[in-house]
Amino acid sequence: MSASLTLPAPAKLNRMLHIVGRRDDGYHELQTLFQIIDLSDSLTLTLREDGNIHLSTPLDGVACEDNLIVRAARLLQRHANTTQGATLAIDKRLPMGGGLGGGSSNAATVLAGLNKLWQLGLSSEALAKLGLELGADVPVFIHGHSAWAEGVGEKLTTVTLDTPWFVIIHPAVSVSTPRVFQDPELTRDSRPITMARALQGGASEWRNDCEAVVKKRYPQVAEALDWLARYAPSRLTGTGGCLFATFESEKAARTVAELAGQRWPAWAARGLNTSPLQDALGC
Ligand code: C5P
Repeated sequence: MSASLTLPAPAKLNRMLHIVGRRDDGYHELQTLFQIIDLSDSLTLTLREDGNIHLSTPLDGVACEDNLIVRAARLLQRHANTTQGATLAIDKRLPMGGGLGGGSSNAATVLAGLNKLWQLGLSSEALAKLGLELGADVPVFIHGHSAWAEGVGEKLTTVTLDTPWFVIIHPAVSVSTPRVFQDPELTRDSRPITMARALQGGASEWRNDCEAVVKKRYPQVAEALDWLARYAPSRLTGTGGCLFATFESEKAARTVAELAGQRWPAWAARGLNTSPLQDALGC
């Protein structure tokens, strides 16, 4: 067993997202199609014998104690009752708070990576359950496959989606997820549909229930969405602020990403069905 692992933490898109209810604890019941995409942060986890969890690359504006990857490592350490520690280094590409699930994916990579490095032998189900304590989007990254999700996003069913090219734009705005979910104008009562119905409807029928509220609160998002929709069908991912458009061809996606890049951070990325994290871990 090597004393160090370098692993990807990929982004996700919500190809569609319906809000079908609200729980007593304030969390919202969703129906969503998660798709992993070929755009990732990279984490290096190195074994420490002294039991400490050390973050060697602090993230701007995030206190070490609040950092989701540090919290993930400590949670696993407590859960497994291990005295092993780790140094965590991150090469950050994904925007924070953009609806791409970057922080959740980082946490999932730490849980799955340390499970291997510390030789704990926990199952994916156990890791996903732990991950849910850190955030509603963590389990899908442990699951590691495109999925239909219900509950708050943790009840996952594996699906196989088409794998188009996406252009992703991050309008220069930080969207607050709790604020979007608390907005009185948010649609909270979409009629639940079956997974078969969602898949059968296909991309032309997919929508994101957060989009109207986010566009209203953040005019920069509305402006970027109008711009992107001139080229291809476009939508918000999660609670935003990132937007994505779907393209058949890599060439078209790269051309539009380059144009978008003159105004905003923008990427062209391929849709996947299997996460590169699972490939890297060999599971
Ligand atoms: O779980 P996560 O940390 O991503 O959620 C951030 C906030 O978004 C929660 O505290 C909650 O206010 C809101 N949320 C929600 N329903 C969800 C997911 C998140 O209301 N399904």
